[in-house]
Amino acid sequence: MSHDPRSPRPLVPPLQPAAVYVFPDLDAVDAVYHREIPGYIYARDGHPNAAELAATLTQREAAHWGIVTASGMAAISAAILGIVSTGDRILASDRLYGKTTRLLRNELSRLGVVTEFVDICDRDVVREALKKPTRILFTETISNPLCRIADLPALAELTQQSHTELIVDNTFATPELCRPLALGATLVVESLTKLIAGHSDVTLGYVGGVQSANPERIISGVSTWGLASNPFDCWLASRGLETLTLRVQAATTNAGIVADWLAEQPNVARVFYPGRIDHPDHGISSRLLPQGPGNMLAFELVGGRAAVNRWMRACPNIPFAPSLGHTRTTCSHPASTSHRFDPPAEKQRQGISDGLVRLSVGCEPIAELLANLAGTHLEP
Ligand SMILES: Cc1ncc(COP(=O)(O)O)c(C=O)c1O
Repeated sequence: MSHDPRSPRPLVPPLQPAAVYVFPDLDAVDAVYHREIPGYIYARDGHPNAAELAATLTQREAAHWGIVTASGMAAISAAILGIVSTGDRILASDRLYGKTTRLLRNELSRLGVVTEFVDICDRDVVREALKKPTRILFTETISNPLCRIADLPALAELTQQSHTELIVDNTFATPELCRPLALGATLVVESLTKLIAGHSDVTLGYVGGVQSANPERIISGVSTWGLASNPFDCWLASRGLETLTLRVQAATTNAGIVADWLAEQPNVARVFYPGRIDHPDHGISSRLLPQGPGNMLAFELVGGRAAVNRWMRACPNIPFAPSLGHTRTTCSHPASTSHRFDPPAEKQRQGISDGLVRLSVGCEPIAELLANLAGTHLEP
C-alpha cells in the first residue's frame, strides 16, 4: 500500500518490540545490509526505538554519531573495548563510580590492559602521567559522590598533545549542563538509567563520539559483545528525555537551596556541592557549568553510621534508594553502596566516611522537600 501524505501519523514514536524482521527475498536482505534501503534485521544489531533515542541524544550531545546500550556500564565497556588492545595503558580518575573502577582494575587488567589512577583535578599530575604512551584518559564530568569537577577543556588539551582518547562519563551533568564533546572529548558516555530517562524504571546507556572516534568498532562491538538495548526501555527513555530540560533546571535550583539549608543544620558537619563557595571546585564549576552544577550533592552527618541510620528512619519521604536522577529526591550511602567494596584506606583517601550521605535532589516543590529532609511532614 503506497503512503498517502494525508494519513495521520502517531504523535509519539510507536513501541516496536520485534526482535527480528521479515524479508521477501535474498535481494531485500542484501539491500538492507548494503544500506540501499533503510531497515532493520535483528534487534541486537539495531531497532527503531534505539535509533530514535540515539538520534535525539546525539543531537543533544553535539555528537557526530551515537549508540544506545543496555546500561551505563555497557556504554563504558563498549567505548573502552572499541579502543583498547592488549598491552595498552589507560589513565583514569581516582574518583570514579565504583563499578567503573572495578571494570578497569579487575576486568580489563585480565585482558592485559593496565590502568593507572590519578587525581584528575591536578593538571600537573595528569600531564606527567600522560608522558607514558596512553590510549585513553577516562573521567567523570562531576565525580561521585563528592562532586569534584574535571576541567575538561584543560584535559582535552593535554590528551590532544599526547594522542590519547578522552572519554567522559557525563552521567551527573547530562547534556543539559555539559557537552563534553564540544569541550574537546573524543567520546561521551551516559547512564540513561539516571537523569536522562529520569523515572527509575529504565536501565540503559549511551556512547556518542566525534567523527574521528572509530565509530564502526564501537557500534559493531555493542552487537558482538552483546551490549545492546531493548525497545521498551528505549521507548520509556525517549519519553523521559522530553522533560529532561525542565527536570534538570528544577532539580538544580532545588539542590542549591537544599545545600545551603543543610549547611545551617547543627548535625551536618560538611556539605559538598560545587555551587557553594566552600566547595574546592566552585570556580571551575561556575566556568564549566554556567547553568549550575546539577542535582547531586553530599553531606556529612555528625555521628557516623548510627547518625545516618537515625536520619534515614526519621525521613521516610527521602527514600534510601542507591541510584540517582529520580523525579523526587532520594538518598544513598556511598560507604555501604557505590563504594562498598573499596578497602577502608581507599574510602578514607576519597573522603567517603560512614557519616556521608549522598542526595539526588528531585523536582518536588521546595517547601515539601525541605520538610521531608527535616523529617517533618507538610500539612495536607
Ligand atoms: C557516574 C555513573 N556512571 C555509570 C554508572 C553505571 O550506569 P548503569 O547503572 O546504567 O549501568 C553509574 C551508576 O550508578 C554512575 O553513577
